[in-house]
Amino acid sequence: MYSSFQLAKKYLHYYFTASNGKGHGTHSPFVFDFITQVLNDKKVYSCYAEIEKLRLALRKNDTNIEVEDFGAGSAYIKTNKRVVKDIARSSLKPKKYAQLLYRMVQYYQPQNVLELGTSFGITTAYLAFGNKAATIFTCEGATTIAAIAQQNFKQLKLQNIKVIKGDFDVTLPPLFSSFNKMDFAFIDGNHRKQPTLQYFEQLLLHASNTTILVFDDIHWSIEMEEAWAVIQQHPAVTLTIDLFFIGIVSINTAIKVKQHFTIAC
Ligand SMILES: C[S@@+](CC[C@H](N)C(=O)[O-])C[C@H]1O[C@@H](n2cnc3c(N)ncnc32)[C@H](O)[C@@H]1O
Repeated sequence: MYSSFQLAKKYLHYYFTASNGKGHGTHSPFVFDFITQVLNDKKVYSCYAEIEKLRLALRKNDTNIEVEDFGAGSAYIKTNKRVVKDIARSSLKPKKYAQLLYRMVQYYQPQNVLELGTSFGITTAYLAFGNKAATIFTCEGATTIAAIAQQNFKQLKLQNIKVIKGDFDVTLPPLFSSFNKMDFAFIDGNHRKQPTLQYFEQLLLHASNTTILVFDDIHWSIEMEEAWAVIQQHPAVTLTIDLFFIGIVSINTAIKVKQHFTIAC
């Protein structure tokens, strides 16, 4: 993992070298659409306040819980005592990106959505509100954390979420074989190179031309930057968008020339 100072330096470099995020001069229809219809959609959707109220409650919650710690690694390490508010402050995707994921699901209308790394279900809730007709499969290894997520889904009256509990290594193979096609995936757990690439390869086997993959924290560490570089160069990948804290991948074969975009947001 990079230090805060290293990450800040990298972010500044990204911010000052990225395209301006307005869509001017963008020759890719996919990217133009993404910028104008999704990234720059400033509407305040009604679910935003509902979910953020829940996030706020989690950030104030002093309850101690026992958590199986998966760390940045795949193997279960040990059980730790953690305070809910500490996890809520450090592990959840900030609202800017969670709301972007909501708008992506709302715009592209995927049917089968996968999230690796549920935590308390805040981003899952955004995905679920994005398309109530979709099924959101969300995977979490820590039992007590998954239980809190399930309470949150109940509170938000969300019925289109299936929580899959257990280590990704164990739960993913049967999950993948249970459906043909996965339309949208947010990979936000186990931020190491080999596991990330392994999930990517597995996802490719169940993806279609219109599938969109979103990888979290692509610049978080050397390993994640290496994984992102491998994904960008993969023959199946036709387009990537680097938003620094997340990376978006398309494998649409209608895009004939591989393109990589870095966009400020
Ligand atoms: C960064 S958090 C997810 C945050 C969530 N997507 C959000 O934005 O609200 C990552 C989660 O993945 C889980 N996790 C990490 N590695 C795992 C593994 N190998 N199997 C199952 N769960 C894992 C952790 O327990 C943690 O709760």
